[in-house]
Amino acid sequence: MSFETILLDKQDGVGLITLNRPDALNALNSVLVSELISCLNDLQADDDIGAIVITGSEKAFAAGADIKEMAGKTYATVLEEDMFGNATKAFRDIRKPVIAAVAGYALGGGCELAMCCDFIIAAQNAKFGQPEIKLGVIPGIGGTQRLTRLIGKSKAMDMMLTGRMMDAVEAERSGLVSRILPTEDMLDGVLDIARDIAALSRPSVYLAKEATNRALETTLEEGLLFERRVFHSLFATEDQKEGMNAFVEKRQPQFKNR
Ligand code: CAA
Repeated sequence: MSFETILLDKQDGVGLITLNRPDALNALNSVLVSELISCLNDLQADDDIGAIVITGSEKAFAAGADIKEMAGKTYATVLEEDMFGNATKAFRDIRKPVIAAVAGYALGGGCELAMCCDFIIAAQNAKFGQPEIKLGVIPGIGGTQRLTRLIGKSKAMDMMLTGRMMDAVEAERSGLVSRILPTEDMLDGVLDIARDIAALSRPSVYLAKEATNRALETTLEEGLLFERRVFHSLFATEDQKEGMNAFVEKRQPQFKNR
C-alpha cells in the first residue's frame, strides 16, 4: 500500500505510521485523514501487528487540521460531510494499542489526534495546544472532551480559552503525556515500548485497553464489575497458563495469543 501523506512501516509486530506533509507541518487535510483511517484499519486486520505507533517529524507531530482546506467551507458543507466524524469513529474501532510519539508541535487537531491514541510519549521539544479559539472556532476532534478528562477543567479551560501552548514538562505534570524522552531518541524509545507490548498476550492487551477505557465511560461500581469479569475470563486462555507457569518456572513466557 502506498500513500500520499503518510508512511507505513511494519516491523517486529509494530505498525509505524509517520505523518508526512512536511511543507504543511503535517496539517490534517482530508487526504491525510482518510489515509490514516485506512492505515489503522489495515493494521487492525493484520495478525502480525500487536501495537501501533503514530508519529510526525521532529518539528511537528501535526500543527492541526488543515486551515487552508477548511477556510472556505460553509456550515452546511461541514455538517453534511460530518467533518472529522470519520476520524473519531475510526479510533473508537481500533482494538490494538496505539501510542502517539510526539515531537514538536501537536496543536489543534494534532493535539486531538495524539489524545485519540491510548497514550502519548513526548519528546523534550514537544508543544501541545488547542489554538482553535484564535481562528474563531473550537476544537472538533475531541479536544474539549478529552483534554478536560486528562488534565482537569481548570487547566483545560486555560488551554481552550487562551489558545496557549504547553511544553513537554507541563504536559507530563498535567497528565497529558505519560513520559518524556530525549528528542533525538524519542521514536526509538517508543518503538521499544511498542515492541514489548506487541510481544504480550493479545487477548489480555485488548481487554486491558477496553477495561481502562471503560473507566471514563461508566460508574465505579460498573467498572469494577466489568474489570473483575474480564479478569476472570482471561483464565480461559492458554496464555494465562503460560504467563503464570513461566513466572513460576523462572523463564520468559511464549504467548500464542489464545
Ligand atoms: N493548516 C495548514 N497549513 C499549516 C498549518 C495548518 N494547521 N500549520 C502550519 N501550516 C503551514 C503554514 O501555512 C506554512 O505554509 P507556507 O510555507 O506555505 O506558508 C508551513 O506550514 C510552515 O508553517 P509556519 O511558517 O507557520 O511555521 P512556523 O514555524 O513559523 O510556525 C506554527 C509554526 C506555530 C505551528 C504555526 O504554523 C501555526 O500556528 N500553525 C497553525 C496552528 C493552528 O492554529 N492549529 C489549529 C488548526 S484548526 C483545528 O485543528 C481544528 C480542529 O480542532 C479539528
